Amino acid sequence: MAKVVVVTSGKGGVGKTTTTAALGAALAQAGEKVVVVDFDVGLRNLDLVMGAERRVVFDLINVARGEANLSQALIRDRRVDTLYLLAASQTRDKDALTEEGVAQVIADLRTRFDWVICDSPAGIERGATLAMRFADMAVVVANPEVSSVRDSDRIIGLLDSKTVKAESGERMEKYLLLTRYDAARAARGDMLSVADVLDILSIPLIGIVPESKDVLRASNMGAPVSIGHQASPAAAAYLEAARRLAGGPSALAAPIAERKSLFGRIFARRAA
Ligand SMILES: Nc1ncnc2c1ncn2[C@@H]1O[C@H](COP(=O)(O)OP(=O)(O)OP(=O)(O)O)[C@@H](O)[C@H]1O
Ligand SMILES: [Mg+2]
Repeated sequence: MAKVVVVTSGKGGVGKTTTTAALGAALAQAGEKVVVVDFDVGLRNLDLVMGAERRVVFDLINVARGEANLSQALIRDRRVDTLYLLAASQTRDKDALTEEGVAQVIADLRTRFDWVICDSPAGIERGATLAMRFADMAVVVANPEVSSVRDSDRIIGLLDSKTVKAESGERMEKYLLLTRYDAARAARGDMLSVADVLDILSIPLIGIVPESKDVLRASNMGAPVSIGHQASPAAAAYLEAARRLAGGPSALAAPIAERKSLFGRIFARRAA
């Protein structure tokens, strides 16, 4: 049965699009049939990271409005056979996407794919709630800093109230992916530690993606990091996170060596 995953964060620029592409590619490389869907209407970044920007003819809005069918709009990856992209529109206004239209597209994608991975726009407004609306599970992307963790906390609240799954009384599966993690900076107390973040958010951790120049290099090449820089520690973290998602996630613990910063402890107490 298809799994619909939303990659979401609240805060902008934390690594949602990078994560959507890398997890999608990692699952597809393991033989799963995957579509990555760009919900970031107006900005449209996922096609760039996937290296497909010149191949976009029809997009999510065209399909949602019945102006094109899925077969016309789905773009098959040239490197991994079982990986597809449904791009966002760059020009249309955001209100062109309706809940009914999205419901239909997601229902159709469920019949064709093992995994439907939705790249959410930043924020907590309509675009982000539409991206999460029909999801079965969420990957909450956060950076180890207070503003990102606070926004993730708000997103978790929305996942538990504004999704079809939550409204029907089912449990929304939520997993945390920490990205742009710099162990040296966390040790100096410049960043929240993993333990701090877990204390605050209390959802299972499926991966820690280190800060790595390979991520930008891969995206400049138009390749998800898990394809473009397979030897990179960031790629290894994404492959591991994909394994956890696919195999019934088992949570990671915070690195033992890590000490909780005083700052993090104070924040955790306030957030509780
Ligand atoms: N692990 C990492 N190491 C270094 N740079 C990273 C890492 N992850 C993401 N980045 C960089 O951070 C920037 C933002 O990433 P990305 O576009 O994936 O974020 P986003 O959450 O989708 O942003 P938006 O909210 O604008 O959609 C990009 O320049 C990307 O290359
Ligand atoms: Mg993005």
